[in-house]
Amino acid sequence: MRKKIVAGNWKMFKTYAQGLELASEVAHMVQDEVHGQVEVVLGTPYIHLYAVARQVAGVARISVAAQNCHQATEGAYTGEVSVTQVASTGAQYVILGHSERRQYFAEGAALLLSKVQAALAAGLKPIFCLGETQDIREAGTQDDFVRGQVADVLYKLTPAEMAQVVIAYEPVWAIGTGLTATPAQAQDIHAVIRKAIATHFGDELAQATPILYGGSVKASNAEELFAQPDIDGGLVGGASLQSREFTNIVKAMRA
Ligand code: 13P
Repeated sequence: MRKKIVAGNWKMFKTYAQGLELASEVAHMVQDEVHGQVEVVLGTPYIHLYAVARQVAGVARISVAAQNCHQATEGAYTGEVSVTQVASTGAQYVILGHSERRQYFAEGAALLLSKVQAALAAGLKPIFCLGETQDIREAGTQDDFVRGQVADVLYKLTPAEMAQVVIAYEPVWAIGTGLTATPAQAQDIHAVIRKAIATHFGDELAQATPILYGGSVKASNAEELFAQPDIDGGLVGGASLQSREFTNIVKAMRA
């Protein structure tokens, strides 16, 4: 059975102290209330990584993700944070290719491929995000578009590399808008993504790859989304900033 994952993406929210408080609350709630096989990932800003990783080190099921990283292991890149530095904090995951990075920081396929490969070489597991904009959805070409996003980056990996990757489908029109893909819409495109992985890497690897849904996931819609056969969890933005709401989303994963 493939891994079930509920990941929070805090984006650029929470001061240092607020972040530690949030992580501590989530850790306690998960410890007390979550009993299934679901893995919980806290995607914090860089400044929180080390402290949060230490905070959750003894807590089963919880790990930590960065939201980006530079592709080099070190170098004169003022203001950047390397894959090696991220790994040295105790983080196990790194979110890459988020639509906000693609849109505001012009991150394209070639750069993302180098980041994914560098992250893997440093022992980090990429949570690789993809998804269409509203225009593409309205034109009805979303299936081809996401197949292209998969091919442009993930097809360039070796099977051993791909085996470490988590995919997050996040339709841009559903991020932070309160609009959520219906469970049927999400299931359809998750199946397209899994098929695209199978076409290139074979069915076994495709069946083992976790594909998370992101875009206005809340406790009230999570259960229906997570019940879909090709939805293996969520990547949660706004609702991950409140410990009660986020833990309830984790509990909606029946694993
Ligand atoms: P929201 O859950 O706030 O819509 O954000 C989704 C997201 O971008 C997670 O990476």
